Amino acid sequence: MTNLKMFSGRPPAWSLSRPKSTLQHLYDLAGAPLRMIALPDHVNERLHLTSLRAERLSVVLPLMKGRVLDIGAGDNMLVNLYREACIGTANEIGSMDSKGLDVVDWGGECVIVENCRQLPFDDESFDTICLVACLNHIPERIEALAESHRILKKGGRLIVTMIGRLIGEVGHAIWWYSEDKHRDVADGEMMGMDPTMVTDLIRGAGFSTVRKSSFVYGLNHLFVAEKSSDTV
Ligand SMILES: C[S@@+](CC[C@H](N)C(=O)[O-])C[C@H]1O[C@@H](n2cnc3c(N)ncnc32)[C@H](O)[C@@H]1O
Repeated sequence: MTNLKMFSGRPPAWSLSRPKSTLQHLYDLAGAPLRMIALPDHVNERLHLTSLRAERLSVVLPLMKGRVLDIGAGDNMLVNLYREACIGTANEIGSMDSKGLDVVDWGGECVIVENCRQLPFDDESFDTICLVACLNHIPERIEALAESHRILKKGGRLIVTMIGRLIGEVGHAIWWYSEDKHRDVADGEMMGMDPTMVTDLIRGAGFSTVRKSSFVYGLNHLFVAEKSSDTV
């Protein structure tokens, strides 16, 4: 069922550079139907349109610190870009020991697990945990967040991105190229999740502060939460 060529390799450097130029903003806006609906990421990037993947990566990368676990990592591009960005910085050692994890081997040297009910890592062993565009795809999402809380160090950071439920349901019906078309879809997967649901799940797992912001014209959401230093 899996197709190892599903993820489209490295996004071009210009697509990750922020802030975008005014010209790129205007071009992305004019090309919104192509980059948001009709074409896969790598084709948009060839047309110099910012792909949705590059939009996600560029909001998450600057927030990562220390040793990172990226859950639902796909081809492990986030961790690979993070490692490169950290060369010569205070995060270099942590970045080298950072990991991607997935239930499907998409070919990026991720840790492969059956599900996220129990993650194969020690308590308080990561500084950052990312769940980028995947919490909806994880049926065991309550356990995945509880495990994230367990393996995060005190003061560690949880980063989640998620599209809304309606846009996700419409989108997944149209996105002929999305990764869920190349693997078995599990019972309990959702095609998007509303922000209140995501915030409630994150808080329910024990995280203290949850800051929410939006990107891609308000259609995608970023959640940044902390594991309190007071956690017993
Ligand atoms: C939409 S892709 C996102 C990939 C990557 N994070 C990105 O932003 O490009 C969703 C990912 O979630 C993974 N996934 C699906 N079910 C999962 C589960 N139960 N636990 C962990 N990852 C899962 C899929 O294999 C896929 O790589």
